Amino acid sequence: MAKAVINTGSQIGNGVIVNTGVIIEHHNRVGDFSHIAVGGSLGGDVSVGKNVWVGMGAIIRNGLSLKAGAVIGAGAVVVKDITKEGTYVGIPASLLNPHLNHA
Ligand SMILES: CC(C)(COP(=O)(O)OP(=O)(O)OC[C@H]1O[C@@H](n2cnc3c(N)ncnc32)[C@H](O)[C@@H]1OP(=O)(O)O)[C@@H](O)C(=O)NCCC(=O)NCCS
Repeated sequence: MAKAVINTGSQIGNGVIVNTGVIIEHHNRVGDFSHIAVGGSLGGDVSVGKNVWVGMGAIIRNGLSLKAGAVIGAGAVVVKDITKEGTYVGIPASLLNPHLNHA
């Protein structure tokens, strides 16, 4: 979408939404059917699994991985790998409902 930037060496899968004003920095990988919502930012060398939803304005620090199916809430800042499916919010991002038994 308008004003999105996809920088050098980044690979975007099939059916991905790169929404308005998103920044996908260098050497990132975005899995099929993921959605990077308005204003989200991926630092360099981030690996996003399939069917991931990165909410509006979320920031994913460079070098991290997001597990397939993860949901990152609006405005979150992810500073560690997301290794389990679930919804993560806040700064630093943490699991929204740790009592749910996510796979
Ligand atoms: C993270 C999200 C998916 C959670 O949705 P949900 O499961 O319906 O959660 P709820 O709205 O019921 O909120 C549950 C709790 O999480 C908190 N919360 C929800 N979203 C949050 C966020 N982004 N950051 C911090 N806290 C959040 C709520 O305040 C609430 O806290 P409480 O239990 O203390 O009252 C959603 O809020 C969100 O951020 N969606 C992204 C929207 C977006 O970017 N759309 C793209 C448009 S292009």
